[in-house]
Amino acid sequence: MKQQIIQKRGTELSGEELQQINDAIYREFKVQPLSLESLQKKMFFLLQENEKILAMGAIMKVTPVKFENGTYTLFGIMNIIANEKGQGYGKAVVTAIKKYLLENDMTGIGFCMLKNKPFYEKCGFAVAEHATHQFVHKSDNGEIRNEDGQIIFYVDSSDQFMKKVLAQPNKEVILPTSGLW
Ligand SMILES: CC(C)(COP(=O)(O)OP(=O)(O)OC[C@H]1O[C@@H](n2cnc3c(N)ncnc32)[C@H](O)[C@@H]1OP(=O)(O)O)[C@@H](O)C(=O)NCCC(=O)NCCS
Repeated sequence: MKQQIIQKRGTELSGEELQQINDAIYREFKVQPLSLESLQKKMFFLLQENEKILAMGAIMKVTPVKFENGTYTLFGIMNIIANEKGQGYGKAVVTAIKKYLLENDMTGIGFCMLKNKPFYEKCGFAVAEHATHQFVHKSDNGEIRNEDGQIIFYVDSSDQFMKKVLAQPNKEVILPTSGLW
């Protein structure tokens, strides 16, 4: 049986694919089905064997992101799930995402629990354990930061956004959304 990685916009997913993704997201993170708004913003990477999704992941464009005097575009990496663990399925998806980001000179950034750090390192991502507090979404309702103690895994692009952020640990990154984590 042939395994393959397919790449699809959220709005192009079949009903069957969306069902499998929502089931996995609920099982792992106890969150509700993805909204149409969320699907419209995401590109999915699915490792499939026939009709079955073995592992999944998505990237979401986040722009404009402000840091110091610059404006940047990031791609949030999210919804990373292997339906069967320890078979290399998660790595297949995450390395495909990394390849896509590098080929298109895009900065990729995700937030994960410390226990998943070795996994992302094995997939070729750099990890920043102490930069999470720098990322903030500000709105009329106040400031939202990551409160889950997550760390950052990332791949930089030619603008060297993460290198600049890590060099100035007391400066804030202003996000247009709190949906990055
Ligand atoms: C995290 C997750 C996606 C990893 O997927 P997976 O398919 O089980 O991982 P893989 O089999 O592809 O592992 C790839 C490599 O990472 C290693 N690895 C995976 N999880 C690890 C862990 N927690 N600690 C140490 N190493 C780990 C594997 O040993 C393997 O190493 P190798 O390449 O040297 O053989 C999976 O455990 C999962 O779905 N977790 C629940 C959802 C979740 O937390 N997602 C992450 C959200 S940020």
